[in-house]
Amino acid sequence: MSYIVEQLLKRGFVHVPGFLDIEETEALADDYRNGQFHRTVYTLGHAAPEAIELISDKIRSLLTQFEDVTQFKPSRFGGGAYFATEKGINFGWHQDHESYFINQTHQHYLNIYIPVIKPELERTNLCVIPVDRFMEHAPEAWSRLEWGGAATAKTENGRTTISNDHAGGLHAELDFELEELGETPALAAGDALLLRGDMFHRTQDNDTERVAISIRAFNPDITVVREHYEQSCPAKRWFQANNPMYGAISDAFEERDRMILSELMMSMFKARQARERAAQTQQSAAE
Ligand SMILES: [Fe+2]
Repeated sequence: MSYIVEQLLKRGFVHVPGFLDIEETEALADDYRNGQFHRTVYTLGHAAPEAIELISDKIRSLLTQFEDVTQFKPSRFGGGAYFATEKGINFGWHQDHESYFINQTHQHYLNIYIPVIKPELERTNLCVIPVDRFMEHAPEAWSRLEWGGAATAKTENGRTTISNDHAGGLHAELDFELEELGETPALAAGDALLLRGDMFHRTQDNDTERVAISIRAFNPDITVVREHYEQSCPAKRWFQANNPMYGAISDAFEERDRMILSELMMSMFKARQARERAAQTQQSAAE
């Protein structure tokens, strides 16, 4: 088992210094500067397919390390999104939401997070709660949270509550501040921080200029079911109301109760193309 796989299974994250070389890092920084922004529930820059293509061999070769790992097998990756402090990206402790609503699990889900503009090593990083530390301090809570997602942690008076933003209610109450378990890898531009989808993470600070690309790898063969998608709560409905992608997911599950993830993603992709075509037609009619 490689060092990377071992660390991801044990700690949930691993820092890979110098994952991209200087030319690759610069090319992505330029792509961000020329970029396209889409506003759904937060402002993300979308990486051009040509920019992803530049580093795709590297990502594919990284993913081959998981080929024989039963419990964690991300095998395919999609496009990239840029998270930039100048766009006001600043999140508190959470497990990611939208990837969980789509994948329905964060098992086999890997976030490849690479700063491409990052002048200060010690600042404006991602803070993470290592899996082994969480498990040691709150084994029962972690057993409910492992491979999960769509959770937000709030701390008050030395206690932490973790909300279930997928089905409502609370996942756990902890008698300590989650913050106490945090670690913050100091990342340079071109370093990769590999994170399992179930890792609690937050923005360290928003005080320096930082742009990071996040590329998500997943397993296209896992099964997704209508029943999971239809579980809901006010937090999930808020995401659904703010992104037309969810209409496409509902439509796909109207037709079939279960499918593999790649089929769901194909339906979402086709629906997005149709939306973009309709927007173009509307625009040319207005001109
Ligand atoms: Fe996140």
